Amino acid sequence: MPESNRFQPSSADRPTRPLVVVSNREPYLHSLAEDGSVIWEPTTGGVAVALDALMRERGGVWIAHGAGDADRLVVDADNRVLVPPDASSYALRRIWLTEAEERHYYDGFANEGLWPLCHVAHVKPIFRIADWRAYQLVNKRFARAVEDELPDLASSVFIQDYHLTLVAKYLQAACPGVRIALFWHIPFPHPDKLRICPYRRQIMEGLLACDLLAFQLDRDRRNFLAAARTELGAKVSRGRVHAQNRVTTVCAVPIGVDFDRIQTVTGDPGLEAEKQRLRRELRIETPLIGIGVDRLDYTKGIPERLNALDCLFTRRPELRQQLTFVQIAVPSRSKLESYQAVEADIDQRVAAINARHAGDGLAGGPVRYRKSALRIRRLVALYRLADFCLVSSLHDGMNLVAKEFVAARDDFEGVLVLSELAGAAQELGDDAILINPYDVEGFADGLEQALDMLPDERHRRMRALRRVVAGCDVFQWASNILEGLENLDSGSIPPQSGGTDRSARSLTRVP
Ligand code: F6P
Repeated sequence: MPESNRFQPSSADRPTRPLVVVSNREPYLHSLAEDGSVIWEPTTGGVAVALDALMRERGGVWIAHGAGDADRLVVDADNRVLVPPDASSYALRRIWLTEAEERHYYDGFANEGLWPLCHVAHVKPIFRIADWRAYQLVNKRFARAVEDELPDLASSVFIQDYHLTLVAKYLQAACPGVRIALFWHIPFPHPDKLRICPYRRQIMEGLLACDLLAFQLDRDRRNFLAAARTELGAKVSRGRVHAQNRVTTVCAVPIGVDFDRIQTVTGDPGLEAEKQRLRRELRIETPLIGIGVDRLDYTKGIPERLNALDCLFTRRPELRQQLTFVQIAVPSRSKLESYQAVEADIDQRVAAINARHAGDGLAGGPVRYRKSALRIRRLVALYRLADFCLVSSLHDGMNLVAKEFVAARDDFEGVLVLSELAGAAQELGDDAILINPYDVEGFADGLEQALDMLPDERHRRMRALRRVVAGCDVFQWASNILEGLENLDSGSIPPQSGGTDRSARSLTRVP
């Protein structure tokens, strides 16, 4: 690695600067219960879960869209509320959007435009001028809130994802010199595909207003650098883009999970009872259990997974009496037609499989399908029940379910069956069973391999997977990015694939 690409952790005595995190999705949502009381719940999705772990540890301010119907009832005059609601650790500053703004900025531009643009999932991106206008306006509003919340110009701002590509540009104009990093959680498209977007130049310029841009994989980083060259004619040298009279450092730092928190839950003496409760509630009577846990999204390959299970039960009919597959799908972006279509498709496939493979004496067929989120304790209990976990994304930035499953298995049991098209395959591909979700027969072979694997091999693979997942957790990820941001003056670049010593973790709680 050239000298300039080597990561140099900041000195231990450097004070940690206050952190401002910005994302569209808020980590906690307040809503009204039927009896009129205000209740809260954590939100799901990679960004919320990962960043909440960081902010619990570090403290600071997190700016996000207040989407809960009781969100306004619990904030103070500055639209702030302390969270987590049961263990105040940091401030959540909520941004309000009108219904029309949400429809155009979030549903429209972010999720009908950028999301399919960035994922190879065969859903056509839709770009509308009204959505683009709302996207610019909302990004400006987020930038203004950051301006309000910035303690001083020496603070770091950490922006998340494709919803907020223009925030850095607006912020640099208002507060020149503030340090900004953005993490892009999803795949970054090849320049040929990026060209579909009529607003790609503005988006690239917005991103290049950041000091540090981090992607999950080196492939994403390379796609971005190629687009900087072709779209903006920018000069790219040693991982840095020179454009608009500034320099942006571009790196790949794969995200991790809060390994220790999951470990704590696995040690909970009540977990065994939780597992039994789950068994009863899901009416699981078979000795073998497979699971899938996903947002209900067309990129996750849930229909493809059901096809592979259908093929497996057809090949080995005896499994109908022996294996239950539990699919947890968390409803997501359900106002959009593309999401309604995949939901209807999954409903229909689950019903068909259950009808086709209902075994004698086992009511309801082999698939249990639940459309709701699980809190961490139940989720870990489910992971611990499973003989195998299926992650069959058609395309995925990382996929934290794969890493959570591994983190939950300190019994070294369970097999991870992982799509080679998920970002996680890059780190976990050696010891997961890799499948291609488009290859039904090959996918079913992978399921058979998981089911037939001998205990020694299972344990060996899980041990190896756990070393990888523990070696780069969410704190290490954040520390790599934020220390990289603070060290930019010294010319260092964060590592290109995560993973420095865990003892290098330098996050301290900001009061
Ligand atoms: O991980 C990608 C991502 O789009 C996040 O930005 C987002 O918070 C998460 O998936 C869940 O999606 P949404 O916020 O639209 O529910």
